Amino acid sequence: MTSRTIAPAGRGLRGRVTVPGDKSIAHRALLFGAVADGVTTVHGFEGGRDNRATLAVCRALGVAIAETGTTLTITGAGFEGLRAPAADLDCENSGTTMRLLAGVLAGRPFASRLVGDASLMRRPMRRVIEPLTRMGASITSEPGDGRAPLRIVGRPLTGVAHTLAVASAQVKSAILLAGLQATGTTEVAEPVRSRDHTERMLRDFGIALRVDGLGVALDGPQRLVATSITLPGDFSSAAFLIVAAALVPGSELTLGGVGLNPTRTGLLDVLAAMGADVTVEPEAGGAEPVGTIVVRQRPLHATRVAGDLLVRSIDEFPILCVAAACAEGTSELRDAGELRVKESDRVAVMAGMLRDLGVAVDELPDGLVITGAARLAGARVDPRGDHRIAMAAAVAGVVGTAPVVIADPECAEVSFPGFYATLAKAAGA
Ligand code: S3P
Repeated sequence: MTSRTIAPAGRGLRGRVTVPGDKSIAHRALLFGAVADGVTTVHGFEGGRDNRATLAVCRALGVAIAETGTTLTITGAGFEGLRAPAADLDCENSGTTMRLLAGVLAGRPFASRLVGDASLMRRPMRRVIEPLTRMGASITSEPGDGRAPLRIVGRPLTGVAHTLAVASAQVKSAILLAGLQATGTTEVAEPVRSRDHTERMLRDFGIALRVDGLGVALDGPQRLVATSITLPGDFSSAAFLIVAAALVPGSELTLGGVGLNPTRTGLLDVLAAMGADVTVEPEAGGAEPVGTIVVRQRPLHATRVAGDLLVRSIDEFPILCVAAACAEGTSELRDAGELRVKESDRVAVMAGMLRDLGVAVDELPDGLVITGAARLAGARVDPRGDHRIAMAAAVAGVVGTAPVVIADPECAEVSFPGFYATLAKAAGA
């Protein structure tokens, strides 16, 4: 296994950087374009591994997708344009691919088998199996415990009202995608509002839906009309650079064209509460708000992240741990039980990493209590194949006092192709 050594920054992070197009939005652009009527174009597609898995799956379902530079041209022929796949549909490391795809295939009149890598095959799928089965689909967990491989035979669907036990944009989106193929009204209610990229983009595709507080509803069946989508920079990728610049003395880093959907930007509120110097200038955007973020270093103090704020920074948990580890005082990250079933058990893996970096951590069932260390020590980190853990480890190396050695660093390519080069450029390494 290869490894990569990340040394402490010799100076502040400076200059202007951009980050790849948003992974979460790109999955939706691909899948919605694949089932729309007509030709959809997607601009700013950098193609991390997760997004490539979705692209390959759409092609395996018979959809023509051309890639020219960072532009995709998707030729859709409605939901009925999809064809039975000749082989298993490999979602690789991507939960979004598997869960949203289950919603698409729930109403298609053919059989398919959804598989993934070892991490994805450990993740819970009952949360999509149960509502989609109630709508009329036949979905079987092969091991019988709610995990993949999933065998799906699509059937005529009927709308349902479903309340999610845990806020999840993936599950909400899967049910809405099935609802578009169903007869009658489909309603999804969440305990806390998860990211709303699906709701925003479905409107771009001409779908009528109703958002009311924590609920979203649509009447089926409805057809999607092809459109053109420009992907904003991925806020969850920018997050690693934002925290690095907030922590390294002498930093003044500008990130342009970053997505600023408020259901995603909880990290900005957390950093403001910690005393960070971050300014945001909105730019003209489409359905998704976009802007420029400028970060300067300032000492941070401890904070508490829970509830709605945790959901709005769900994918930032690993990098929030690094921020808390460098802040004055004791921080609490709570209501984060869901992080145990992400690409890795991010609560346990981050607790182990922080201890190796010399930080005092208490692990709780739903989160971590972290007492900031004056400076982080060096360590050897195994990110367990989890992209966001690898990138958090790299930031710990940049902001710390001694190198961090990352095993299997390439897993960062899952969401952020070119991450190490971008970090090195900002740090002048
Ligand atoms: C995503 C939703 C979130 C997030 C994941 C991407 C999406 O997962 O953690 O990285 O694109 O819908 P959950 O829906 O499981 O919360």
